[in-house]
Amino acid sequence: MTGVNVIEARGLKKDRVSSFLLKRSPILDDLSLTVREGETYGLLGPNGAGKTTTVKILVGLIKPDSGDALVLGQKAGEPEALKQIGFLPENPYFYSHLTGYEFLEFIGQLFALKKKELKERMAELLELVGMTADANQPMRKYSKGMLQRLGIAQSLINNPKVIFWDEPMSGLDPIGRRDVRKILERLKSEGKTIFFNSHLLPDVSDVCDRVGVLVKGKLVAEDSIKDIERGGGYKDLEEYFLTKVGG
Ligand SMILES: Nc1ncnc2c1ncn2[C@@H]1O[C@H](COP(=O)(O)OP(=O)(O)OP(=O)(O)O)[C@@H](O)[C@H]1O
Ligand SMILES: [Mg+2]
Repeated sequence: MTGVNVIEARGLKKDRVSSFLLKRSPILDDLSLTVREGETYGLLGPNGAGKTTTVKILVGLIKPDSGDALVLGQKAGEPEALKQIGFLPENPYFYSHLTGYEFLEFIGQLFALKKKELKERMAELLELVGMTADANQPMRKYSKGMLQRLGIAQSLINNPKVIFWDEPMSGLDPIGRRDVRKILERLKSEGKTIFFNSHLLPDVSDVCDRVGVLVKGKLVAEDSIKDIERGGGYKDLEEYFLTKVGG
């Protein structure tokens, strides 16, 4: 891990506006966080805390009302940042008539990968997520976990420097979760910077270097896993989380 900041959120604010009297209330309330090069950061928080909104801002899908989001020193969503990120959305949308292979190929073409490089990369990624045998099935025949595996593969097609995964373990069986943990370990060893959300706290404590806890759009705690688990006075990450969210 280096001291270089790869992801920087500075004072992010995002309001929801209700249709009744156009009343505004915060989804994100002055959120600031940084993730250093090579670090794996887990954003935790109850349902509706604003985790997905944060990821959407960092990948440039939505704009904050105020504050700045920077990835690799570029404004989030700028082409130079987009080229170097991988993104797994919370609810990925797939073209169900395409096979897994065709879908991956399509995503690779969006990144303008050369034919030979793309073919090699696809074979490697299908193997990595355990989807080689099913790659030629149309995606409408895939189970939830199979779609999730393909979603993970597509997020890595451009060999990104920075990875944003919104609930990568969702819908996966215990084997799938173990596989994702292994993939995360491998990406970490390659020096990638990883930002993800998950409710599966044992998995988070296994792979993250640092976590932040978001409650109603505010970052109420941020600590390294080492500090939490050794000497933090908490039995485990779950106890830390429940204490911080007041659950
Ligand atoms: N497009 C939108 N319009 C209005 N409100 C929204 C919109 N998107 C999200 N919200 C609101 O923002 C809040 C945060 O949502 P978000 O999806 O970021 O939460 P989350 O922490 O990812 O939750 P979960 O753990 O359930 O995935 C919620 O109250 C949600 O209703
Ligand atoms: Mg979410």
